[in-house]
Amino acid sequence: MLAAWWFRLCLQVNQGPFGSELSLTLQVQKHLEPFRLSLEKLQDVSARLRKDMIRGLGKHSHHRASVKMLPTFVRATPDGTEKGDFLALDLGGTNFRVLHVRVLEEEQRVLKMDSQICAIPQDIMLGTGEKLFDHIAACLAEFLDSQKLRGQTLPLGFTFSFPCEQKEIDKSILIRWTKGFNCSGVEGEDVVNLLKEAIHRRGDYDISSVAMVNDTVGTMMSCGYRDQSCEIGMIIGTGTNACYMEEMKNVKRVEGEDGRMCINTEWGGFGDDGCLKDVLTEFDEEVDKTSINPGVHTFEKMISGMYLGEIVRLVLLKLTEEKLLFRGCPSEALLTPGSFETRFISEIEEPDSGLENAKKILTKLDLDWDLVDACVARLVCDTVSSRSARLCAAALATIVNRIRINRGLDHLKTTVGVDGTVYRKHPNFSDELQAAVRLLAPKCDVTFLISEDGSGKGAAMVTAVAHVGASGWGFACVLGCAC
Ligand code: BGC
Repeated sequence: MLAAWWFRLCLQVNQGPFGSELSLTLQVQKHLEPFRLSLEKLQDVSARLRKDMIRGLGKHSHHRASVKMLPTFVRATPDGTEKGDFLALDLGGTNFRVLHVRVLEEEQRVLKMDSQICAIPQDIMLGTGEKLFDHIAACLAEFLDSQKLRGQTLPLGFTFSFPCEQKEIDKSILIRWTKGFNCSGVEGEDVVNLLKEAIHRRGDYDISSVAMVNDTVGTMMSCGYRDQSCEIGMIIGTGTNACYMEEMKNVKRVEGEDGRMCINTEWGGFGDDGCLKDVLTEFDEEVDKTSINPGVHTFEKMISGMYLGEIVRLVLLKLTEEKLLFRGCPSEALLTPGSFETRFISEIEEPDSGLENAKKILTKLDLDWDLVDACVARLVCDTVSSRSARLCAAALATIVNRIRINRGLDHLKTTVGVDGTVYRKHPNFSDELQAAVRLLAPKCDVTFLISEDGSGKGAAMVTAVAHVGASGWGFACVLGCAC
């Protein structure tokens, strides 16, 4: 669509699309072609993911699966009877949030009483685990003081948005860091324990029970409180991932055949065994090579906010080297990794102000641009973000198709709780994703619900449910353990 728009613009700027601009268009398109995935290709990607999901669920195949399919021990979505006051911690990106949440049973409402954001500086993201958890415990202490909550020992929901092998609701072993974190001494350790140790090291406050959740699960749970047909949680932000309710009989690594359990797919790891080689472009390979975790989270690196800007920068650089942009002259900024922020993509693709934004951004990057350059930059952004939306759609379609077939249904109506800056902020990402899901899962009617303060409140929901079970208040127990 954008290509046609650009073609028209070439006409408008009076440079004639049949001369040099047409040949430029064709050459640019040639470089962008590997990003364009046909419906057949997406169906094929979906079929590969389906196989990997089955491998991840299997008792004997799990250890070699790149899509980990981690049991969460959450066995049902909320039923609206949960209540109480909770603390929630949310760690998953460069910021860390602390929340005080109140769940009101009578009004079936989750109220965020207050929250505070603490930055996680780069040296902490890459330092020791002890330093990271001391920082978290310090932020929590500050928040308790500001809320006059010190002295009350509230239950705590901890959204920890990294792949963890959950042993129990309050025991969760970090498999590996993603999204730019690399703190030493945490992989292979119980994260709840590390948090409790940090709080004990301070010795000036305490917490009662802790429930650990992935952000996808938190999102599903908080949306599930509003819409009880929500049984999938999806994040497209700094990282990407989804969880969904799987039939227990298919969760081979957990005892029991009855009912369902929420599975954290960790779809970001899809392709780590090389099965997406034909889909990866030279730019994806470069992004992977220069990341702090090469060979890991291949699918995430094609989709999520941590990487999209860098992919665009590499494409722009390549086009400049080929003398198709900026008269062949890159600026120092364009040559600097990380200089093209992912938010620029959303700004440049804005329907009304996009072209003006492109000009401002190219100027900020110290590039000597003309109108055609600005249009090409817009086309590159559109191509890279479209691929991301379509790949996500292929993965989501795999899940909804699986749920439908699991239940032997001719037609499935379901809701996905969604969160993440890419999904929320990009002007047409959600439309593109939804359109592709309709094509890839024609027998499923999928509603998308954006979570309000998702994972934090969701963590409180899981805690509420765990707490309810633990204290014997008699509400439906949705957790497979700890109750
Ligand atoms: C993590 C997931 C998380 C996702 C979205 C990925 O890097 O592995 O656990 O859900 O990011 O935050």
